[in-house]
Amino acid sequence: MNPEAAPLESIEEWEDDVLRRYPETDYDPNGKEKEAFRNYEAPARPSVREFYRLNHTYQTLDYVLAKEEEYKPGNHGMHSIWSMAEFLNTLIDDSDPDTDLSQIQHLLQTSEAIKADGHPRWFILTGFIHDLGKVLCLWNEPQWGVVGDTFPVGCQHSDKVVFPEFFPENPDYHNPELNTRLGIYEEGCGLDKVHMSWGHDEYMYRVAKNYLPEEALYMIRYHSFYAAHREGAYDYLMNDRDREMFKWVRAFNPYDLYTKSDAPPKVEDLRPYYEELIAEFFPKEIAW
Ligand SMILES: [Fe+2]
Ligand SMILES: [Fe+2]
Repeated sequence: MNPEAAPLESIEEWEDDVLRRYPETDYDPNGKEKEAFRNYEAPARPSVREFYRLNHTYQTLDYVLAKEEEYKPGNHGMHSIWSMAEFLNTLIDDSDPDTDLSQIQHLLQTSEAIKADGHPRWFILTGFIHDLGKVLCLWNEPQWGVVGDTFPVGCQHSDKVVFPEFFPENPDYHNPELNTRLGIYEEGCGLDKVHMSWGHDEYMYRVAKNYLPEEALYMIRYHSFYAAHREGAYDYLMNDRDREMFKWVRAFNPYDLYTKSDAPPKVEDLRPYYEELIAEFFPKEIAW
């Protein structure tokens, strides 16, 4: 992968930065908008800044439309959920293997915390699969096309998106048809009509679409849309269904962010439980 495609040491560096911005001590379970949530104390690392510069520069409407086409489910074969979790685990990064969790361990920490709180089985399963779309990295997509906060393309960028100062480098910013409040959309059209910047969230949503309840699909599709679920931006594109469903996106977020501990879950011990849970919702193999 060329260096321009990979300014971060590992894709976890992006998640560490999300944690820096939204520390657990500031978490409000009712999802109230609070400007003070933004953590301006510690500045982002230069690699994270560079990552967002690339992300905001290259995530255009045209880029997103092309990726939606390229990654139509089926274009990357038929695979089981578990085999894709193992495939994702082959993602080797340069960070310290003694302190960092593997990809499967992050998924299991998320899902085990959901299970411990007594949530329904589809919610636990959602925790386990929510990041499987990161396999995009293994198909040579650049980091800025896999992770990072997501945002709508095809309309004006909100200044609630992290590092808004980089958006003038995006060609869409200079397109008068796209750089208006609504751009190509209609007021309250609903997020399903809105193209989001491309990454692991949207890809996994498309893969899981036919198999999970609507709440689960919202969690998967919008879990990195921090400008909306933490900052309240882009409400004018939402419909009432989105607003209702975003309660679930907010319910999911702390399990994703605040369950990282150094005690790694034992993958082989947990595997039978998850294989059974997967089989309850998914066929043996699904289209990727
Ligand atoms: Fe994620
Ligand atoms: Fe995650």
